[in-house]
Amino acid sequence: MNIVLSGSMTAKYLAAVILAFSALNVVADDESIVYQKECLGCHVGSTSNSDVTGPPLGGLADKYILRQLKAFKHGWRGAGHPAARTMSDAVASYSDEELKDISHWASSIKSDKHFDYLLGKGRDGYQLYGDKCKGCHDSVIGRYMTGSPKISYLDTDYIIRQLHFFDEGFRNFDQPTKHQLKMQTVVKSLTDDELEVLTRFIANASLDKYENLDD
Ligand code: HEC
Ligand code: HEC
Repeated sequence: MNIVLSGSMTAKYLAAVILAFSALNVVADDESIVYQKECLGCHVGSTSNSDVTGPPLGGLADKYILRQLKAFKHGWRGAGHPAARTMSDAVASYSDEELKDISHWASSIKSDKHFDYLLGKGRDGYQLYGDKCKGCHDSVIGRYMTGSPKISYLDTDYIIRQLHFFDEGFRNFDQPTKHQLKMQTVVKSLTDDELEVLTRFIANASLDKYENLDD
């Protein structure tokens, strides 16, 4: 097949292609502004102590974020709890493809650390945290081997709330890995006393000074 474009048609065609490309760029920029507005309105600072404020968003890997966004969208995570419903509503209208872009964007947000278990050295709960939690969450190797998130970028209110969600069965999975299941069973296997000691320990290992409970 022979398509002969006249000079003016070629020019028009080129102009259209250039326009299409520049439109794409504009869309990409617009999207990140939309996400900033939509997401950061609720993920606003260093605390997530209500059902409508989420944790600080930076510091998490995009794979992990994508997993969570899908879990919220499909109701595996937190169905029946107002905090998770807030998030499910926020992502309900995005396609899985869009969620991929959003996760990529969200993982690039700069964030500060809010939790450091080493701050609690010598306190009640330090040993318990070391035995039950540290292996998966507090070393590069541990996280890599188990696909565990870096929880040091999360605020301590949020960390404690998630422990209760795992314990009470609000946080579930579609086809869980053995490490995700372990996360659930570790929390469920704690006695009430242990959970309380751990909660206090985590609250005290906050880098946001005003949150410290003791002294
Ligand atoms: C109306 C408020 C609101 C909006 C809007 C919102 N979020 Fe959330 N988000 C929350 C709350 C509340 C939680 C905590 C839910 C829970 O505790 O289960 C949360 C949790 C999350 C989590 C889980 C974090 C983790 O460590 O597991 C991610 C990821 C997240 N949001 C990303 C986003 C993104 C990306 C957007 C924008 C598309 C967004 N959120 C918009 C309120 C909101
Ligand atoms: C076998 C490894 C393993 C152990 C042990 C473990 N976790 Fe986890 N943890 C995970 C994995 C994997 C996830 C991610 C679950 C998911 O995909 O939603 C997770 C998720 C979490 C979250 C939610 C993070 C977020 O961004 O919402 C918190 C908080 C947490 N763990 C704290 C703890 C604490 C505290 C302990 C000790 C009592 C502990 N974990 C023990 C593997 C582990």
